[in-house]
Amino acid sequence: MRILSGIQPSGTLHLGNYFGMMKPAIELQERGEAFYFIADLHALTTVRDPKALAANCHDVALDFLACGLDPKKSCFFRQSEVPGIADLAWILSALTPMGLLERCHSYKDKTTRGLTPTHGLFAYPVLMAADILIYESDLVPVGRDQKQHLEVTRDLVGKFNDAYGDILKMPEAHIQESTAVVPGLDGAKMSKSYHNTIGIFEEEKSLRKKIMGIKTDSTPVEEPKPTQGSTILDLYRLVAPPEEVARMEADFQNGGVGYGDFKKRLFEATLAHFAPFRARRAELAANDSTVLDILEAGARRAGDLAAKTLDKVRRAVGLR
Ligand code: ADP
Ligand code: TRP
Repeated sequence: MRILSGIQPSGTLHLGNYFGMMKPAIELQERGEAFYFIADLHALTTVRDPKALAANCHDVALDFLACGLDPKKSCFFRQSEVPGIADLAWILSALTPMGLLERCHSYKDKTTRGLTPTHGLFAYPVLMAADILIYESDLVPVGRDQKQHLEVTRDLVGKFNDAYGDILKMPEAHIQESTAVVPGLDGAKMSKSYHNTIGIFEEEKSLRKKIMGIKTDSTPVEEPKPTQGSTILDLYRLVAPPEEVARMEADFQNGGVGYGDFKKRLFEATLAHFAPFRARRAELAANDSTVLDILEAGARRAGDLAAKTLDKVRRAVGLR
């Protein structure tokens, strides 16, 4: 089974990215042949500062490796270093109905938020389909917000294969429902666009400040507190050991403990959960050439596979 996913280098990694996409992807590397990449071509649709783009790419590479991506098990590379992705995206574009892209939420969301409506932003799902199809992927671990892009990809496989024969492989999304939507500091979906994120490699001081600032209701200390929809509890369940989660749930139900105490526990559990990752990240950061070597070797391996698929596609459509 071939597993593939990508992450955009467009900001700092937060708990939503980690639990929604990265952790499931890292777990899947034990179950098949995994291909994970840094979606720098996609990031061009939103990042205009070349220095920031290069720095973000390096950061996200360190993040992914520190979180457990094992380059011996997974092929890890930068999207832009594999030739052919843009070619396949163009070939797919030629049979992509406008209506299919017009229905995509992410384009509407991004333009509503004030991003310039560019062709790149609009055609984003076609480039994503090319990523998935060029490596003949079976399974694509993503957060729920990417589900529609997987549907577009599946639609394009149908259209292409109807027109040219059974060439492209039909992929499937892998969405871990328990962590499909990690809440942010204000209770809405954690997202860099909502400025409500908790970074997993965030400095201790700012991590404490953010967690202590989580929005809560005004239930007095001595009263029982609602466990349903509590951001503190939802996040605590992700980072704390089960017996500590059970203790916090009991304290919520019994009353007598204030939100400030719960937040302190959440802060400590978050710090402890990610401590080994922080240590590994610092080690990797001290040895830049290792990361570059990993990405280079990954791009070579991914490139061989991409070239084979592209060759089949070119023949099928009459470009050979
Ligand atoms: P953001 O919303 O911060 O811009 P991205 O869109 O770059 O994050 O998402 C990168 C990956 O992380 C995607 O697979 C996405 O589904 C996942 N993801 C992002 N935020 C969350 C969240 N709050 N809960 C679960 N998964 C998330
Ligand atoms: N669109 C994805 C995101 O924003 C990143 C991505 C690009 C991707 N190409 C992909 C994810 C292919 C999975 C498969 O998170």
